[in-house]
Amino acid sequence: MTVLTIQPQGITFAATPGMSLLDAIKAAGVALITQCNGKGQCGACHLFVQEGRKSLSKIQRAENEKLDTIVGVGSKSRLACQAVLGEEPVAVELLGFKSGF
Ligand code: FES
Repeated sequence: MTVLTIQPQGITFAATPGMSLLDAIKAAGVALITQCNGKGQCGACHLFVQEGRKSLSKIQRAENEKLDTIVGVGSKSRLACQAVLGEEPVAVELLGFKSGF
């Protein structure tokens, strides 16, 4: 089990290592509407990882290329559908806008 904290909702969720961030966020009851269903293509799941970045899977080329097309990307950016949870706690900040469109 790994602890996922979701801001600004302030939700803490006991997630399973190996889950994608997107699946864990949805399992925590937060509606995150996407268009590509977790295929790394729409950018709608762009979020900031505030803590635990090193616990997540490494960014692969396809995710990096998609992030390059999104306005507002920073050093804490990930696509929730491409980032897989590890063992350490992670805190994310949902951006509340469809930054990928
Ligand atoms: S769900 Fe579309 S890029 Fe992540």
